[in-house]
Amino acid sequence: MFIEARAHAGAASVCYIQNVGSIVLYMKTKRIPVRSATGKYSVVCGHGVLRDAAREISRLGDFSSVHVVSSPKAWRAVGKLIPANFGSLAATKGAAAKRGMTKVHLFDDAESAKTLKSVEHIVRSLSGAGADRQALLLAVGGGMVGDVAGFAAATYLRGIALAHVPTTLLAQVDSAIGGKTGVNLPEGKNLVGAFYSPRVVLSDPRALRTLPEREFRGGLAEVIKYGVIFDAKLFAYVETHMEKIVLRDEAALAYIIPRCAAIKAHVVSRDEHESGLREILNFGHTFGHALESVTNYRVFQHGEAIAWGMMAAALLGHAAGITPERDAARIISLTRRLGALPPWPKATAAQLISAMRSDKKTREGKLRFVLSPGIGKARSYDTISLELLERVLHFGPQLMSAVHAPAKI
Ligand SMILES: NC(=O)c1ccc[n+]([C@@H]2O[C@H](COP(=O)([O-])OP(=O)(O)OC[C@H]3O[C@@H](n4cnc5c(N)ncnc54)[C@H](O)[C@@H]3O)[C@@H](O)[C@H]2O)c1
Ligand SMILES: [Zn+2]
Repeated sequence: MFIEARAHAGAASVCYIQNVGSIVLYMKTKRIPVRSATGKYSVVCGHGVLRDAAREISRLGDFSSVHVVSSPKAWRAVGKLIPANFGSLAATKGAAAKRGMTKVHLFDDAESAKTLKSVEHIVRSLSGAGADRQALLLAVGGGMVGDVAGFAAATYLRGIALAHVPTTLLAQVDSAIGGKTGVNLPEGKNLVGAFYSPRVVLSDPRALRTLPEREFRGGLAEVIKYGVIFDAKLFAYVETHMEKIVLRDEAALAYIIPRCAAIKAHVVSRDEHESGLREILNFGHTFGHALESVTNYRVFQHGEAIAWGMMAAALLGHAAGITPERDAARIISLTRRLGALPPWPKATAAQLISAMRSDKKTREGKLRFVLSPGIGKARSYDTISLELLERVLHFGPQLMSAVHAPAKI
């Protein structure tokens, strides 16, 4: 069984003008539409977008108060980019004036704090600050903050307005778009949650300047994923400009971030609840989640596990006669250019397969793999033989590690 993705992900663009000394830069801000069951929203993407955050929020309607929910680390890094004038924005609404001040609620964004306890902390803090049904929650942070604060917005007073300000590359190209919110349980990751769409996503690459290198490269793995599953041109762009991208070159980020956001927006607009097309976003994730799970989420940054996973999916696709040799080689060598990854764990094929089977995305115990019939295309398969999978898990790690090893003379 397969689902194929071949379509155009579009985005309208608007020009803002910024004065830098005597030079006037024309910065393209892209407005990417997303459709959800509860209505449309935009991902507003571009350098300087956060400077206009108050205006963007005011376009959404009247709010009694604005509540920033963030983590101490994310807020320290990007708080200064966000104008403090939401208070005056809310205060223009007559009786709400006295309550209209922006309040900042901080909570720990370690993955270990992605719990119902943190949701309780946030909603009680909102309640303590007098947030009512007309309040807006502005989630400022990486995917962790977005997921937890998003779930708090979905449940506080049975739902208040939510806006995302993603501050990691992964959050800008992936987690802030598509409406998935939630927390972990001791029994597993993301087991409690809700689909809850934001009213707007404000995505400014300037927020990424302070992002640790490992987090940035992890996000880049997802960028490569979008190239593989949907956009051969994006893939080729990353091949050509990898050196600039890792230096966070403005022009390079101005191309890749809106492009990935537009692909994610396109996919989730057509399949919000992951019954079909959305599955292609899991390229590399069946392997990646298994690697994270057998190492108890302590060894790999998510993107690093996905990097291994994409290389394994390229090998599996090739072994199954689906991915042409040249495409598999390009996927592996581009992924290797992300830099050194933590080594493949010393887990047996049986342990990894067992971890794959307990993944919540498994349907009726059947293993599913998203594979690529060629760069720019992806399909989900549930017909891959166990024998082929075992072979890839057995030999794959050495093959993938060897790709860039210098030749011995
Ligand atoms: N909802 C979805 O569709 C979806 C999709 C993918 C992942 N996720 C979730 O996203 C989470 C991972 O998100 P992530 O990769 O963005 O990491 P993260 O949110 O855990 O952040 C990583 C680290 O970077 C710090 N940080 C964030 N922004 C910063 C900045 N601008 N400067 C300096 N430091 C900064 C954070 O404080 C944290 O220490 C996971 O919980 C995962 O389950 C959700
Ligand atoms: Zn991912």
